[in-house]
Amino acid sequence: MEICQLSGRFFSAVPLQFNVGLRKSSRAPKFLVCSNRVNCYQTGKTDQDSRNRMFILGMGFVGQFFTQELLNEGWVVSGTCTSMKKRNELEQRGFNVILFDANQPEMSTMNSLKSCTHLLVSIPPVMGIGDPILQHGELLRSTLMDVNLQWLCYLSSTSVYGDCGGACVDEGYPVSPTNEMAKLRLAAEQGWLKVAHDAGIKAHVFRLGGIYGPGRSAVDTIIKREPLSESQKRRVSKQFTSRVHVADICQALKASIHKKPARRIYNIVDDDPASRKEVFAYALDLVEKKWHSLTKETTHERAESFGQKASLRGEKRVSNAHMKNELAVQLLYPSYKSGLQSIVDQMENPF
Ligand SMILES: NC(=O)c1ccc[n+]([C@@H]2O[C@H](COP(=O)([O-])OP(=O)(O)OC[C@H]3O[C@@H](n4cnc5c(N)ncnc54)[C@H](OP(=O)(O)O)[C@@H]3O)[C@@H](O)[C@H]2O)c1
Repeated sequence: MEICQLSGRFFSAVPLQFNVGLRKSSRAPKFLVCSNRVNCYQTGKTDQDSRNRMFILGMGFVGQFFTQELLNEGWVVSGTCTSMKKRNELEQRGFNVILFDANQPEMSTMNSLKSCTHLLVSIPPVMGIGDPILQHGELLRSTLMDVNLQWLCYLSSTSVYGDCGGACVDEGYPVSPTNEMAKLRLAAEQGWLKVAHDAGIKAHVFRLGGIYGPGRSAVDTIIKREPLSESQKRRVSKQFTSRVHVADICQALKASIHKKPARRIYNIVDDDPASRKEVFAYALDLVEKKWHSLTKETTHERAESFGQKASLRGEKRVSNAHMKNELAVQLLYPSYKSGLQSIVDQMENPF
């Protein structure tokens, strides 16, 4: 890291430190003038301006969990959602949220990016369109050329590997997405890495397994007696589905911020790829042990629906070795078993 010492009427004698190496040198003067951190020295304002600022495009399941963790650690966090109802709910929880439709990005939202130091992209591709923000390439490019970003992460999916015949798949395994959504996902990965590279921003792609956590898990599906979603139905017969608890995604995100790893792409999954049938049976057992009063018929019928014959065609076991070795992530929930157990333990009375 280079250390720049500034003097003159705008700056105190305190040396400013920032990582010039990540940015194009021609942009350094702009950084000095525009940075909030500099404002803080100019005006004597503290703290608020010098803290890390995360912007989350898409305050969905991961975005909200991550926001809460960062707020607990003293970050300034803002993010987006698409509906007024959700914005109100999130504001009630103390979150700073902006309404944002990525299909029609507003200048004001893009301007909000300019004051952040870190950017998490958590908006999925749209069928028939692709990544909705990358569609507005020029606007995005001009915004990113004028920001003070130290870190950008795009949340992707292990679906980009496609059908692997049961192979063990690390980040070097050739990508070969088979369905339309996975193809759009791969294009989005490449698009975000390119946009960030062109702007001199350090960027990562996290390929996530099936995300679960409090409020979204096999336990919740059983308790709420929800019908299976389309993606759940598609995965019913799979022998191996990689998963990851949302708390472990957050650990990996934080590790990539603090460790500044060389690799751009990481698989973020747990140690225990397993079939839906197995996971659902385990969740059912946990629920019945804790809440004996639950009607067993419905839940057992549901368990039966996971009894279809499995085949290895199109399957993969996704490796998390690089996440562990390079990001030094020690999984809080290495298996769905400990993850589901913790979810049940935290539930008071869900009925
Ligand atoms: N769920 C999984 O198992 C899984 C697995 C691998 C990868 N992923 C991907 O990982 C990322 C994070 O997952 P997640 O489960 O946290 O996602 P999520 O809960 O579905 O959240 C997605 C966020 O994107 C926002 N969004 C969607 N379309 C948008 C648009 N056109 N314009 C603006 N915002 C839009 C949503 O807005 P609202 O808040 O208003 O709905 C939401 O905040 C997503 O890209 C997801 O597809 C998910």
